[in-house]
Amino acid sequence: MNPSAPIGVFDSGVGGLSVLQAIRAALPYENLCYVADSGHVPYGTKTPEYLQKRSLVLTHFLLSQNVKAIVVACNTATVAAVAYLRATFTIPIIAIEPAVKPAVLATKTGIIGVIATAATLASDQFLRLLERFGSGVTILTQACPCLVAQVEKGDLASSTTRLLVQQYTAPLLVAGADTLVLGCTHYPFLRPLIDEVVGANITLIDTGTAVTRQLSNILAAQKLLNPSAQPGHEQFWTSGEVKKAQAVFRVLWRKPINLQPLPQAFA
Ligand code: DGL
Repeated sequence: MNPSAPIGVFDSGVGGLSVLQAIRAALPYENLCYVADSGHVPYGTKTPEYLQKRSLVLTHFLLSQNVKAIVVACNTATVAAVAYLRATFTIPIIAIEPAVKPAVLATKTGIIGVIATAATLASDQFLRLLERFGSGVTILTQACPCLVAQVEKGDLASSTTRLLVQQYTAPLLVAGADTLVLGCTHYPFLRPLIDEVVGANITLIDTGTAVTRQLSNILAAQKLLNPSAQPGHEQFWTSGEVKKAQAVFRVLWRKPINLQPLPQAFA
């Protein structure tokens, strides 16, 4: 495996860019390949079989770009497909799951809210996470089916998005949650709005930094960190409509980018 090869990252859409930002900040010399599967978004309403199939296709595409590792920057794809991907491919596959463990350490009221997609919350993997780390605390869950679409539109602060955030978080706050796990990679883009809605006393926890740490450790252990001293570059693909997605990518990535259509065979 070539250490100067890029790292592949995928998500159902633009949400994984929140993870890509954490990776870029921590690993400035790495080259990054990002695929937004926006032609198939949302993942949160799809079956595990569908998500396994898409994860397999996107992994094959990233392998065709000669990546040295893959980051599944999507909680929903992780719970459905990561075991399958790891059993199928030999390259390192790093995945993301709701940060229940850090939330258990952070809560003072002993009540935690987890917001995520319906598919993540319904998965066996999420239940196992609760069994492993959730004893002694109350963990409340809330699916937020409409938030992903708002982020996909780049609508991070309108009154509609605010209302949705209010509706989804209110039951958790009323029940006494003091810690909120952002269990979907789209939600960190709504962090300023969520912060405003839930107030300063609520701790928000997301997973981008933890995943990046894990990625760095794995690359270091396998001697796969890029030895280059040149800033790394990024490449972006989408299975959705390029023109529409490009504008949203610019808002979220905060730099001009060249977004390419995912080749038909993988779209
Ligand atoms: N960003 C994804 C996640 O972390 C999935 C959102 C969706 O497509 O429903 O779960």
